[in-house]
Parts: sequence; structure tokens; C-alpha cells
Amino acid sequence: AQPTRIAPSLLAADFARLGEEVKNVVASGADWIHFDVMDNHYVPNLTMGPMVCEALRPHTDAPIDVHLMVEPVDAIIPQFAKAGANIITFHPEASRHPDRTLALIREHGCKAGLVFNPATPLDWMDHVMEKLDVILLMSVNPGFGGQAFIPETLRKLALARGKIDAWKNSGGQGIALEVDGGVKIDNIAAIRAAGADTFVAGSAIFGQPDYKTVIDALRAEIAK
Ligand code: DX5
Ligand code: ZN
Repeated sequence: AQPTRIAPSLLAADFARLGEEVKNVVASGADWIHFDVMDNHYVPNLTMGPMVCEALRPHTDAPIDVHLMVEPVDAIIPQFAKAGANIITFHPEASRHPDRTLALIREHGCKAGLVFNPATPLDWMDHVMEKLDVILLMSVNPGFGGQAFIPETLRKLALARGKIDAWKNSGGQGIALEVDGGVKIDNIAAIRAAGADTFVAGSAIFGQPDYKTVIDALRAEIAK
């Protein structure tokens, strides 16, 4: 079976105690740390930049999964790579040249991926497959945590899973399939069944007093 990963989103963490939150969530079983970067331009909200990533880097060995909700994209990539990011994903319509941006991310030693908003067609991936390490499907419109999962994402996930598997079966590299937005204990089994292997969860995890209890429950649902 493919590996599955839980990626808690720091967007829902206590920003006054981020280092401690990262340590707690990794000790509770998190696989990746999902790091949401918003610029008040591509999305109507403002979060954290490379300096916060750099400050968190010594607090964990877990991969830092940087989700760029910024426009333009390219200039910030070297800074995040230098700050210790492991994975960098971006929204292709926010980059003038997505193929070049994917190459730039890998040149800086990070895994690269595209993010698809609910209405963004999957064909943005078709001609850059060999440059992808991750596909991230948004199951809410980006900009805020705590929104409801958009059910249409399940059909889109199945389509993305088909493209990724076809690529692999024709000799291509493996590509992770990540979902972001409204992932909860009561829907993660369906999201897994539709083909996701990596699950971002913000409010579902950081909104609870005991992170291990939630992460264990999420994993138990995935294993069903
Ligand atoms: C939304 C962010 C998500 C968000 C998910 O723009 O990309 O990562 O934090 O939060 P929840 O899990 O609360 O929907
Ligand atoms: Zn995100």
C-alpha cells in the first residue's frame, strides 16, 4: 500500500507559540508540517513568510510543506528553500510560467508541486508531469481555515489519482496526492477512498486539546 501522511496546517495553531505547537504535533504523529503562506493579494489574508519558516526549522526534523498562496511566485522560492522548506507548492495560475517555477523549486533542492483550487482544471498538470513531486487539491477556496469541505473534490480526486497512476504505470515517478481544506475525522475515509494519500488538517487538529487523540483517530479512519 502507498504511504499515507497527516500534514497539520499551522494556520490553525497558536501563532504566539508556534515552535511549541510544531513540536507537539510532530510528537503526536504528524508526518509533514503544512505551512500556509498568504500574501493579501492572491488571497485576502496575510500569514507567514520565510523568516517564520527559518525560525521553526530548528524545532523539528519533519518535512515543512510550504503552500504558497502568493502572486507572483518565483521571487520567494529561493528564500523559502534557504529557510529550510522541504516541499514547495504553488497555484499555477499565479505564476506566469508554471513549468519554469516547478524547475526553480527543484533547482533549489525542494520537492515541487502544483495546487488546484476547486475550479482550477486538472489539465494544468498534463505537460509538467515529470516535474511534479506533489499535487495538492484544494477542497475549499484558499484564504482561510475552518471552511467546509467541498464534496465535488471527491470526483476531482479520483481523476487526479487516475492521472498519477497512469503516469507511474508508464514509467514515471511517484507523485503524492494531497488534499487541503475541511478535512475531518468524519470525511477523511471518503477522501482516502477517492485516492488521496496526504491529508492536510488545520482546525480538526489544532482545534482539539489533545493532538495525538485526533491524529490517531484520523489514521484509524484512513486504515478502514
Ligand atoms: C486554506 C489553507 C488550508 C487551511 C486548512 O487556504 O490552505 O491549509 O489551513 O484548514 P482547515 O483544515 O481548518 O480547513
Ligand atoms: Zn494549505
